[in-house]
Amino acid sequence: MSSTTPLLDVSGLTKHFPIKGGFPIRRTVGAVQAVDGLDFQVAEGESLGLVGESGCGKSTTGRLITRLLEPSGGQISYRGQDITHAGRKQLAPIRSEIQMIFQDPYASLNPRQTVGKIISGPMEINDINPAGGREARVRELLEIVGLNPEHYNRFPHEFSGGQRQRIGVARALALDPKLIVADEPVSALDVSIQAQVVNLLQKVQKDLGIAFVFIAHDLAVVRHFSQRVAVMYLGKIVEIADRDDLYGNPRHPYTRALLSAVPEATVPDEGAPARDRIRLVGDVPSPINPPSGCRFRTRCWKATEKCATEAPPLVQAEGNNSGHLTACHYPETADVVTEVPTPRLSKDDAEATS
Ligand SMILES: Nc1ncnc2c1ncn2[C@@H]1O[C@H](COP(=O)(O)OP(=O)(O)O)[C@@H](O)[C@H]1O
Ligand code: SF4
Ligand SMILES: [Mg+2]
Repeated sequence: MSSTTPLLDVSGLTKHFPIKGGFPIRRTVGAVQAVDGLDFQVAEGESLGLVGESGCGKSTTGRLITRLLEPSGGQISYRGQDITHAGRKQLAPIRSEIQMIFQDPYASLNPRQTVGKIISGPMEINDINPAGGREARVRELLEIVGLNPEHYNRFPHEFSGGQRQRIGVARALALDPKLIVADEPVSALDVSIQAQVVNLLQKVQKDLGIAFVFIAHDLAVVRHFSQRVAVMYLGKIVEIADRDDLYGNPRHPYTRALLSAVPEATVPDEGAPARDRIRLVGDVPSPINPPSGCRFRTRCWKATEKCATEAPPLVQAEGNNSGHLTACHYPETADVVTEVPTPRLSKDDAEATS
C-alpha cells in the first residue's frame, strides 16, 4: 500500500432497503433510498465529520463502512483492499481495526456484564492476549478514558451517562483500531457532559493517531473535532470541504441553512461573511420517493426548473483546488449574503414532500 492510499475509500456507496408488500405473495414494491451514491475518503489519522438532519442516512453509512450492513451498490476499500462484499472470513482480520461507538451508551452496554468483561469482550472474541494480560489492558484503557481502573468489577448502571460513553470508548479502543465510526456519540448526553466526551475523543484521535468518522446531526458538534466535514441530505453528500472552508465559505444552500441554525456564539468569527438567519421550512421528503433532480429543491429558496430536472453533481468550484466540493446548480459565493428564504413549492413539490 502506498502512503497515498487513503485508509478508507468509498465510492458510489448505496444502500436501498427493499419495501415488501402484497398478499398472499410478498414482493418488493419499492425501496428506501437510505444512502444513494456516496463518494468520500478518510486518510490515516484524519477525522471526517458526517452531518445532516435525522433520517438522511448517516447511521446507515456508518453501518455500511463497518460492514454491519451489506451495501446494495458502490465500493468500500479499506487500506486498498476491496471489502464491499467481503465475507466473515475476509473481514475477520479487519474487524478489529474498524470499531464503532454508538449513540446510546445505555443500550449499547450489556447491563449484566461488569465493565471489565465488557471492555475485554473484543479481545476475547478476537482471541487477543495482550502482554501483561487482558485485565491489565482493561485497567490501562479505563485510565486512558478517564475512569478509575479500580471500577473494573462494577456494572454499567453504577455509572453516569457520560461515564458509560467512556466505557464504550474504552471498548472501541481495546483492539488498537485504526478507524472509529462514532455515531452521534454525544447526542444522548447532557449538554454539560457533551464537551467532555468530545474532548476525550479528540485526545484519543490525536494521541493514538486513530482516524474517525464522526456522525452528528448539527454542525456545532463536529466543528472542533473534524478536519473535514461532509454534509448529507436525503442519502447524498451535498457538500464536503476542509473545516475552515466549510464553516467560513459554505456554498450549498443546505449547509448555509444548517449553519444559520447553529447558535450565534458557535458560529465562526474570523473572516466569515455575515449571515441572515435561514429557517428551513417543511420536513425532509421521504427517501422512498425523493424529489427529482436536486433532492433539496422542495425546501430550497433558490430552486429553478433546472433543479427539478437535473441532479447537480458534486463538483469543485471553478478556480478552486482545495477539494471543496458542492452539489448545487447555483452555489453561494463568499460575498453574497443569502436572501431571506421563501421556498417556492409547486404542486408536484408539495406532493413529493408529503
Ligand atoms: N433496516 C432498515 N430498513 C428500512 N429502512 C431503514 C432501515 N434502516 C434505516 N432505514 C431508513 O433509512 C433512512 C436513513 O436512516 P438512518 O441511516 O438511520 O438516518 P440517520 O442516521 O441520518 O438519522 C431513514 O428513512 C430510515 O427510516
Ligand atoms: S441545485 Fe437548485 S434546489 Fe438544489 S440546492 Fe442548488 S439551487 Fe437549491
Ligand atoms: Mg442515526
